[in-house]
Amino acid sequence: MPLHFRTMKDSEAEAVSRLIQRTFQRFIAADYTSRGRRCFLKNTSKRAILRRKRKNQLLIVAEDNHTISGLVVVRKGNHISLFFVAPEFHRRGIGTRLFREALDRMKAAMPDLGNITVNSSEFALPFYTKLGFVAKRSAYYRRGMKITPMELQL
Ligand SMILES: CC(C)(COP(=O)(O)OP(=O)(O)OC[C@H]1O[C@@H](n2cnc3c(N)ncnc32)[C@H](O)[C@@H]1OP(=O)(O)O)[C@@H](O)C(=O)NCCC(=O)NCCS
Repeated sequence: MPLHFRTMKDSEAEAVSRLIQRTFQRFIAADYTSRGRRCFLKNTSKRAILRRKRKNQLLIVAEDNHTISGLVVVRKGNHISLFFVAPEFHRRGIGTRLFREALDRMKAAMPDLGNITVNSSEFALPFYTKLGFVAKRSAYYRRGMKITPMELQL
């Protein structure tokens, strides 16, 4: 079955939380303080994922042969708050396709969309740069989480 993109079902919140947290531990956790790691894990628990969905955040998953390989979460219409592809699927273009899918949906919901923002991890900087995002300031720690605010002008 080819890769396809759709809204996350409530029944998938646990699997999505696990995908996010194991990918985080591998590529991001070392850049955070212990407070930052605690904060991130709390904000990506199964409950927190379901809460995001109830708040009408956009939660899109990439699914390939009944396996969720990645996801993107958008809040406030144009801010990417989570973006994760499972490590075994990296560098196959899934992140880029997820982004395009999210962009289409953001534009459909907000036709006069002018920009997209993200607080990038250190690891994802080359990915967002390739998509055309530009850093608005250099990396800093917020609540123990190392972030680089970036923006894509449309
Ligand atoms: C960032 C992430 C979502 C990208 O997903 P992906 O499916 O691997 O991305 P793509 O395959 O579409 O990559 C597109 C391009 O981005 C760049 N890129 C992606 N990952 C890269 C890496 N690890 N190092 C250098 N460049 C990278 C490359 O230019 C790549 O094109 P190429 O493979 O033809 O060279 C994925 O690496 C991830 O989950 N990272 C860990 C979590 C994270 O940091 N998320 C962001 C939180 S803000």
